[in-house]
Amino acid sequence: MSNSIFRDTILGKKTERPPVWFMRQAGRVLPSYLKLREKHSFRELMLDPELTAEVTLLPVNDLGVDAAILFSDILVIPEAMGMDLSFTDKGPVFENPLHKINDKLAALKPDSSKLEHIYKAIDVIKGRKPADVALIGFCGAPFTTFCYMVEGNSTKHDFAQAINLFYNDPKTTAQIFEKITELSIEYATTQAAHGIDTFQLFETHAGLIPSELYIERVLPYVKRITNAVREKNVPVIFFPKGLGNGMAKVNFDIADFVSIDWQFSMTEARRIIDSKVGLQGNLDPRLFTIKDQSIIEAELNKFLPFGKENQNWIFNTGHGLSPDNSKDNVQFVIDWIKKTNWNRD
Ligand code: CP3
Repeated sequence: MSNSIFRDTILGKKTERPPVWFMRQAGRVLPSYLKLREKHSFRELMLDPELTAEVTLLPVNDLGVDAAILFSDILVIPEAMGMDLSFTDKGPVFENPLHKINDKLAALKPDSSKLEHIYKAIDVIKGRKPADVALIGFCGAPFTTFCYMVEGNSTKHDFAQAINLFYNDPKTTAQIFEKITELSIEYATTQAAHGIDTFQLFETHAGLIPSELYIERVLPYVKRITNAVREKNVPVIFFPKGLGNGMAKVNFDIADFVSIDWQFSMTEARRIIDSKVGLQGNLDPRLFTIKDQSIIEAELNKFLPFGKENQNWIFNTGHGLSPDNSKDNVQFVIDWIKKTNWNRD
């Protein structure tokens, strides 16, 4: 047994309760984060290793989660390929999205030195974090990264230009996936070399295309990234949001754990996904906006039978926290997970 309930769970050991952390836990739901944002832009927080370490550890100190996730963004990969990115009030925007460029491949010039500050941040976090807290590294999966690179922003949520290119020009699409995959492998394995405990691959927009096409045209790239990280002895969590019944194809060849969105039932996920693969999820994060905590508790109680039977389970939300979530509710859920008797053998 290590002293970390998160590490024990991800390594397949028995624990008294599921470990708990949340996607986007280090963000605007925390007053301490908003205070730092008064002084620094989001980009400053991401670029300065000291500040990055401080923000990464805010939810550990303020909420008591079992794991910290590196504070960064999936769009550092397109940026390290020379794309001009800004973070605006309406989310991230690329000045020259690929849909406007004829020779798309020539526009991509990978320069991994642009990622150095992130490895430095990992070193600082490792020196500062409590030993019982795991550190999760991450990057975006190829399809979601491609969506942003082609479209340039997410204001319309349908990524029409990206989907158009995906159907119209499979050859160029595959070449872009290849470029994203190569840099992501270097990025992810260097995070592993700097000592992250686990790696999560975010495929937030998997649900934009039919699952058969996702399995056929995207999953092989995912497999290359996840297995490069696993070869470094770092377990991998894969989060293909909205993949639906395509989840049946996400077996142990792909990842150690799969993160489940709130549209999918955990018991159904457990039934169709390879039993060697652990599960993460899947509370609906919108419950964090509810005033009456007994409604939240009623939803939490529904996880009890699942948590008794399934040791290879990490409690999380079905997607990231958002700024309208109440910190008190997030705290209520974390405390509930920790104090509940899960009646495990
Ligand atoms: O706490 C964590 O989960 C770690 C940090 C993290 C961020 N982004 C910080 C962030 C992680 C893991 C991400 C991943 C990410 N970024 C994804 C995939 C996961 C998901 O949530 O869907 C995507 C699609 C992005 C791209 C991105 N970055 C968008 C769409 C936005 C705008 C939406 C928003 O929440 O403002 C961002 C900005 C962003 N990334 C913020 C944070 C904390 C907000 C920055 C701020 O205004 O202070």
